[in-house]
Amino acid sequence: MTCDKTPQKITKIFDEISGYYDKMNNFISLGTHYFIKKIALKNLKIRQNSYILDLCCGTGDFTQIIDKIEPKAKVIGLDNSVEMIKLAKHKNPQKVFMHGDCTNLPFKDREFDYITVGFGLRNVDNRQKALSEIYRTLKTGGKFMHLDFGRHGFGGKCFDFWVPILVKIFGVNHENYHYLIESKNEYPEPQVLIKEFETHGFKLVKRQDFLFGAVSYQILEK
Ligand SMILES: C[S@@+](CC[C@H](N)C(=O)[O-])C[C@H]1O[C@@H](n2cnc3c(N)ncnc32)[C@H](O)[C@@H]1O
Repeated sequence: MTCDKTPQKITKIFDEISGYYDKMNNFISLGTHYFIKKIALKNLKIRQNSYILDLCCGTGDFTQIIDKIEPKAKVIGLDNSVEMIKLAKHKNPQKVFMHGDCTNLPFKDREFDYITVGFGLRNVDNRQKALSEIYRTLKTGGKFMHLDFGRHGFGGKCFDFWVPILVKIFGVNHENYHYLIESKNEYPEPQVLIKEFETHGFKLVKRQDFLFGAVSYQILEK
């Protein structure tokens, strides 16, 4: 079965779960997601005064972490869920967030030093278009950091078991979290994604896996 990733469907899911998104992330990952995001962003080695685009920014975790790591960097968060953006803005009142679609970016060519996507690309129907846009708007020598679920092995299977238990405990909409599991299991593993990124012109700089490979980030250079 393939997930329905039409933008309307995806926006509806994230608008609906926005109120408990952060709390569920903490329980699902047993608190590790924020720590993994921090490691990935630290390893991006963000330079002072650089310009960063965080795609599929959700509730603004990346913006918050980047601000701690490199307060002089300028970050813009973009997401197509209005409700997720409201929360991002609440968490980062001084920062800029905009509503938009990562497959059609309102930016000039070669504008950003870094582009990040955390647990976002998996939800995008036209991933190739999003990757073309990332490549287009990144400066030559700029870095793209992709973080998401990784290998479909033991670590990944633990989520399949654990998430439905949490959904029952918290009484949240099970269909939305069923989508999470389906989209995770359908998403290509990192070695496949890296090849895909390479066909767009990126070169792999670093990859690191966590939680028995269930989560992985890759840093690529344009
Ligand atoms: C799982 S959340 C990840 C949020 C955040 N990056 C994090 O790591 O916690 C995925 C986000 O991607 C956004 N999204 C999905 N498709 C998108 C698209 N085509 N353009 C922009 N944002 C999109 C959703 O609205 C949602 O907020």
